[in-house]
Amino acid sequence: MASTTFLTLPSGRKMPQLGIGTWLSPAGIVQDALEVAVKHGFRHIDCAYFYGNEEAVGEGLHNVLKKGLAKREDLFIVSKLWNSFHDPKDVKPALMETLKLLKLDYLDLYLMHSPMGIKNVKGDLLPQKDGQVIFSDVDYVDTWKAMEKLVEEGLVKSIGVANFNPQQLDRLYAHAKICPDVVQAERHPYLTQCEFLEYVKKKGIAWVCISPLSSPESPFWKESPHPKNAMEDPVVKAVAKKHGRSPAQILIRFNLQCGLAAVPKSQNPKHIEENAKVFDFCLDEEDLKKLAALNCGARAVPWDLLGMGKHKYYPFCKKE
Ligand SMILES: NC(=O)c1ccc[n+]([C@@H]2O[C@H](COP(=O)([O-])OP(=O)(O)OC[C@H]3O[C@@H](n4cnc5c(N)ncnc54)[C@H](OP(=O)(O)O)[C@@H]3O)[C@@H](O)[C@H]2O)c1
Repeated sequence: MASTTFLTLPSGRKMPQLGIGTWLSPAGIVQDALEVAVKHGFRHIDCAYFYGNEEAVGEGLHNVLKKGLAKREDLFIVSKLWNSFHDPKDVKPALMETLKLLKLDYLDLYLMHSPMGIKNVKGDLLPQKDGQVIFSDVDYVDTWKAMEKLVEEGLVKSIGVANFNPQQLDRLYAHAKICPDVVQAERHPYLTQCEFLEYVKKKGIAWVCISPLSSPESPFWKESPHPKNAMEDPVVKAVAKKHGRSPAQILIRFNLQCGLAAVPKSQNPKHIEENAKVFDFCLDEEDLKKLAALNCGARAVPWDLLGMGKHKYYPFCKKE
């Protein structure tokens, strides 16, 4: 079994540094993928209501616990509040639905999936008018206050955010009773986000790197002029060859060695096993520099589909 390392969160809780992602892991496959992942030492599991597979993820988790592959208290299970449920009155019902699907009575971490509210339309997570998502103008600070209550009620151990920029985080800090434990943001050699890294280190918040393998399956890459798969990059391949490792393992270490967490997604047992084996080698300074030099500001998940880029809380710089 792979060993793992932990990050200490601002609340003092511990989070496994390596996790497995579940976006685009289909029902029917994700159940077994989770069992394989836990067998190989993964303890941090990144889920989201928006991924549409939480019921299947819940079955996988249930099997893991039933078979005694891990104890509930040793797992770090994360889900995300979707944008449609930002109205404070919708926050707790959204969490309760996620807990029901995951067959759990608490989450280790609940994240606001983005600062951008969307109109809550039953049965439609991306309601549209004239090809444009219908926004809500709920202030994410009000959503955060409702999330704080979930911690107070013991339904979630920690709260955090995803896809926020430093200005939005500063606003949250100014109003928060409970500070965010975690921020999820994309990071891989094509998007190194140096300024964001500095901000996160200064605040002492834990950064969970999403799309750490550059998310080659992301539907957003279709429109992008940038390279789409860092695992195929010649520089990444050369570093992999030097260490006798796979490109995916190099990309995972790239983030872990910066003191960040990472949640590579895989539904393939061989890949899952490979991705777990990242604690017995180190990249050197020269490798890290070469990888960081690939930065071209390419986002796998820029959230600008269906007019989301026009949202008043759109978090990213359009030039990236
Ligand atoms: N908060 C957010 O807004 C947000 C946004 C994006 C992602 N995330 C989270 O971050 C997780 C990871 O990001 P991601 O899913 O975008 O992409 P990713 O982890 O960067 O890349 C996943 C892709 O890499 C492949 N892969 C995995 N291991 C591999 C290996 N060892 N060798 C070759 N290929 C490999 C996977 O295929 P196989 O499955 O076939 O192995 C899949 O196509 C997500 O699943 C999700 O949990 C969160």
